[in-house]
Amino acid sequence: MCGIIGYIGHRDAWPIVTRGLKKMEYRGYDSAGIAIVNDVGFNLYKKAGKVSSLEQFTDGKDKSGKIAIGHTRWATHGEPSDCNSHPHSSNDKRLHIIHNGIIENYAVLKETLLTRGHQFDSDTDTEVLIHLIEEIQNMEQTDLLEAVRLALNEVIGAYAIVILDRGNPDQLIAARKGSPLVIGIGADEHFIASDVTPIVEYVKNVIYLNDNEIALIKTNQLSIKQRNNVVQTPLVHELELKLEELEKGGFDDFMLKEIFEQPRSLIDCMRGRIYPKEGKVELGGIKHYADKLTQIDRIIIVACGTSWHAGLVGEYLIEKFAQVSVEVEYASEFRYRHPIIRKDDLLIAISQSGETADTIAAIEIAKNKGATIFGICNVVGASIPRSTDAGVYTHAGPEIGVASTKAFTTQVAILTLIAFYIAQQKGILAPAELTVLLNELNSIPSKIQRVLAENEHIKDIAFEIKDAKSCLYLGRGSGFPVALEGALKLKEISYIHAEGYPAAEMKHGPIALIDEEMPVIFIATKNSSYEKVISNIREVKARKGKIIAIVTEGDIHVKEIADYYIEIPDTDEAFMPLIATVPLQLLAYHMATIRGCNVDQPRNLAKSVTVE
Ligand code: F6R
Repeated sequence: MCGIIGYIGHRDAWPIVTRGLKKMEYRGYDSAGIAIVNDVGFNLYKKAGKVSSLEQFTDGKDKSGKIAIGHTRWATHGEPSDCNSHPHSSNDKRLHIIHNGIIENYAVLKETLLTRGHQFDSDTDTEVLIHLIEEIQNMEQTDLLEAVRLALNEVIGAYAIVILDRGNPDQLIAARKGSPLVIGIGADEHFIASDVTPIVEYVKNVIYLNDNEIALIKTNQLSIKQRNNVVQTPLVHELELKLEELEKGGFDDFMLKEIFEQPRSLIDCMRGRIYPKEGKVELGGIKHYADKLTQIDRIIIVACGTSWHAGLVGEYLIEKFAQVSVEVEYASEFRYRHPIIRKDDLLIAISQSGETADTIAAIEIAKNKGATIFGICNVVGASIPRSTDAGVYTHAGPEIGVASTKAFTTQVAILTLIAFYIAQQKGILAPAELTVLLNELNSIPSKIQRVLAENEHIKDIAFEIKDAKSCLYLGRGSGFPVALEGALKLKEISYIHAEGYPAAEMKHGPIALIDEEMPVIFIATKNSSYEKVISNIREVKARKGKIIAIVTEGDIHVKEIADYYIEIPDTDEAFMPLIATVPLQLLAYHMATIRGCNVDQPRNLAKSVTVE
């Protein structure tokens, strides 16, 4: 949802900023721009398209300077075009801004500014903000920092901004509310970015700017204050991220790399948390709530997209093992209903990025009603883990591909551990029972490895159904959220319409869609609803649907009827989603790549959705 980067220091800023923007293209990639200052002047370059288009456009032009700001955009206000690209400039073209977020009251502000003679070059809300800052600075005859502070007090919405003043090129000003911003601290240099991916190669120490903070950043000076003028002492974090984690590591795409990383990410996610021999689960992040968890009788899970699917799997697991009632809500719907939230409820927010605007808003609502809030997030230091009472990181490592893969499986693993943890604290699961379950859970990474070895077979199936106009994914029990996730993966990266449905519900409508053109993907592993799923498969077969089945190794019955099948290792029913999702990720991946789609950057999508 837009990536922003700024640099001030002793190095050439252009390569740092362009390289950084490319690394952040997963946040948005419909246009890009850079403003850069050098001793003799200033240059502003903007272009619709990817960062590579901007590079071509600036080939041979002056790109020198030690201070610059850059932006890669995911359009919210105004179509992707050269003039709507950031940076945007003030009326007198002295101030320049990059922005991630939305200024909700931009229309009102713009009307006032128009009456004061301002002229606008774009359709964006961002341009209004920089004009407002300019107007306030001129009216109040104040320095830029104070003008930014006063302007932000008038703004409704979300923002991470960096401002460059070409007349005062020894400083940058940055501020955030609702959108992430991190400042990297080097020796006589500073980096500012939406996340750490573009700066990890230069610095070890970072500061995560908090909501309502404004930073004045010079080469060798950094001061932070709140919007109400209270000076802040910045908390410096040491980065643990390794540079290799941000590279493709020999794979064609980040998505494929991340699918193949799942055995490793699950091991990392469970390390230090499960003790099979002792029959024990330890979750340091929520241990202070161990007693409280024994009293909880209602859990509300809020999330969006793939994380919401993980929540649905969590519902099965928590209700089954911990015997607590669970409701799973789309954060975007939850926040605008009048949800009944009690003080003794537990709300679990699931988010890979930790920055999803709707999920953050849902947390705020539950917080105001006094509920306990846990987060399950991947990005360390993101907004959600910083705004919850407690939580558990998934430790999946950076997920760069826009389509979530390893985030999903690690989220499901954490929900499994939370279910076991509550059951253990309540005495529902005895250590001996947990030993059996944890031993099996421990074997999941190697079982996923066996599924990954089927990659070529899955690619062959993808080739057979690549021209489908639409696909149906069916499953029962926790196979239903797996079906939803499989369908989401396919539609978002291949642009083929796909629907996930509970297999038994098929007869209540979707069965009308089935003909010989329609691939139907069944989650038909051996579990408590196996026989019933077979009946559903027969119903599809009778209507000439093309059947692709995910089956348990050694299955005979489904194999007989399916047109194509993918075998996965047998496991406890509770852990099936962790394994069965993987072939569906690969199927979607291959269908998309065979059709020539860019799987890492699917059209219209952005990795973190920081606007509602
Ligand atoms: C799908 C996908 C999205 C995200 C959703 C929530 O592959 O990636 O549906 O799951 O935007 O994002 P997070 O988990 O960052 O809150």
